[in-house]
Amino acid sequence: MADDPKKAVLTLAGKAVDMPVKSGTIGPDVVDITKLYAQTGAFTFDPGFTSTASCESKITYIDGDEGVLLYRGYPIEQLAEHGDFLETCYLLYYGELPTPSQRKDFEKNITYHTMVHEQMTRFYQGFRRDAHPMAVMVAVVGAMSAFYHDSTDINDPRQREIASHRMIAKLPTIAAMAFKYHIGQPFIYPQNSLSYAANFLRMCFAVPCEEYVANPILARAMDRIFILHADHEQNASTSTVRLAGSSGANPFACIAAGIACLWGPAHGGANEAALQMLTDIGDPSKVPDFIAKVKDKTSHIRLMGFGHRVYKNYDPRAKIMQKTAHEVLAELGIKDDPLLEVARELEKAALSDQYFIERKLYPNVDFYSGIILRALGFPTSMFTVLFALARTVGWISQWKEMIEDPGQKIGRPRQLYTGAPRRDYVPVTQRGK
Ligand code: CMC
Repeated sequence: MADDPKKAVLTLAGKAVDMPVKSGTIGPDVVDITKLYAQTGAFTFDPGFTSTASCESKITYIDGDEGVLLYRGYPIEQLAEHGDFLETCYLLYYGELPTPSQRKDFEKNITYHTMVHEQMTRFYQGFRRDAHPMAVMVAVVGAMSAFYHDSTDINDPRQREIASHRMIAKLPTIAAMAFKYHIGQPFIYPQNSLSYAANFLRMCFAVPCEEYVANPILARAMDRIFILHADHEQNASTSTVRLAGSSGANPFACIAAGIACLWGPAHGGANEAALQMLTDIGDPSKVPDFIAKVKDKTSHIRLMGFGHRVYKNYDPRAKIMQKTAHEVLAELGIKDDPLLEVARELEKAALSDQYFIERKLYPNVDFYSGIILRALGFPTSMFTVLFALARTVGWISQWKEMIEDPGQKIGRPRQLYTGAPRRDYVPVTQRGK
């Protein structure tokens, strides 16, 4: 760094190049390297983007060392404690918490869009019954662009807004239908008089032959899980949505791309993998053996629900999840959940083990979420679907922010090429045996 705190100097092949340093409202400064290639002919190299800010954003802030997560400046703990998911959606999308009348209008707009085109219900029949619900989600959300043509013009702000409202409103319906199809039960239509979370629980667990009333404590827990997953800065799936959207692709296609990325076990698929891990361990007495396996690099076993690219401290969402897990289990009268015991023992063992301490590995949002979702009645295959449902508002808010940025360009990274240099074609008969 040069003496001037707002300027960095890079010396390459004896030539010094000045690069501006930009500051955000909080968080690390960034060195603006956009002119680096033009000035030096060199690229930067950062696979995995460990030191790269891919965009400017006003939506979500994370301080990984301190374990801080802010949505539009508001701490996640306050939103989870005092807010609800729909106002969190409004906040992420429009930038401010809604006034009472804005809230009323937003709620009306969202509930107006909760049903899906009736023809979409038949789209599900094309899937095998045993299809993973995430496979169904990728396909059905992608197919929304075939059903809602009137909101795919990304240059029209009103169409962008309608597409966004449609996705926030319809994702619970689409996710619940994926679940119902999976278990062979009839689809349940949305009920607009209910809250967002209670309506979702009803679409998942009601059957036409019985009355279903969502337990308010469980609906509140569901809502809180949605808040905790609503956005998380430039993670892999959000970056996927931005990259897909940077080419001008329609928003439904972009969100489908985000869902595909989220599915991976290093990202949203970790909640499913974490619960599977707790089930496989089965008993707190087996925790030391499991920890030993994780530390043995040749085993390639990871402690799922632990570690994070950004958090090098306790993930603030994990703390709220842990508290919510206790509330849900108490409400359901589950006194001794063996998986919760395994999780607690695992957390205790890992947090006092040098391997995890040195690498700053702490529980992340997925460590306790599976325990809650299982207690609510969801099979593991639905866990990542619920994550996708909640993250849709984050993806769509980030997509909107990108589209509305006047300097927006197609995302097009470069590479360090290590393949064969130029060589001439050899006819097949001259290539040896
Ligand atoms: N268990 C055991 N060792 C781990 C773990 C883990 N969960 N996570 C990281 N490490 C070790 C890793 O082996 C490496 O050790 P060494 O320096 O000896 O090679 C070191 O810690 C750094 O790991 P990394 O893979 O370079 O870190 P990363 O930032 O690329 O990975 C991560 C972040 C989330 C992919 C990783 O921690 C992980 O695989 N965790 C388990 C999966 C998980 O819970 N994912 C959910 C993330 S939160 C929700 C979401 O984003 O969707």
